[in-house]
Amino acid sequence: MTAKTVGHADVFESLRHEVEGCTRCPLHDSRTQVVFGSGNPAADLFFVGEAPGAEEDRSGVPFVGRSGRLLERMLETIGISRQEVFISNVVKCRPPENRDPSSLEIETCSPYLERQIELVEPRVICSLGNFATRLLSGEKRGITQIHGVPRKIQIGSLDTTLFPLFHPAAALRSPAYASGLEGDFARIPELLGSPEGE
Ligand code: URA
Repeated sequence: MTAKTVGHADVFESLRHEVEGCTRCPLHDSRTQVVFGSGNPAADLFFVGEAPGAEEDRSGVPFVGRSGRLLERMLETIGISRQEVFISNVVKCRPPENRDPSSLEIETCSPYLERQIELVEPRVICSLGNFATRLLSGEKRGITQIHGVPRKIQIGSLDTTLFPLFHPAAALRSPAYASGLEGDFARIPELLGSPEGE
């Protein structure tokens, strides 16, 4: 465990416990289990997707389906393993039939994501797709307009860098998004390496 996790390990586990018992929004009725997030709680790189799908709801782990396999392959291209990063979602429970999460669900769940980010203290947050990007940038512009452009953001007391990316599910559907995602991914090492994450 690195120095970064030592002070936070208990707090992180108690947050996990709290989220796993959450009944704040209607999604708790239909979920199999909460998908809190997985990976290194002291990661420099934090990925935020949209919501768990069927496989994530079954396994309790984010990005384990086709999108997850693509995310892992993309990480391999830059020499980073899934265990080194932290992966979570805007909402922690699966919306029925994989519908979009509602504004109420996002609003209710987003304090959990903020607390996760504050505890992990990543240098770079990659928002995957429109939901995560709009939530974390506070902007309405869509991912096709702002992908691949890093920006400084503040989450609670943490100053960090947001790097919006296409969602892997979009890349699986469209070769243009796939090459956009690949091109943007190639810039991640540079963002992680520079003194201010940019
Ligand atoms: N799996 C996740 O955990 N999140 C997504 O956004 C898509 C697939």
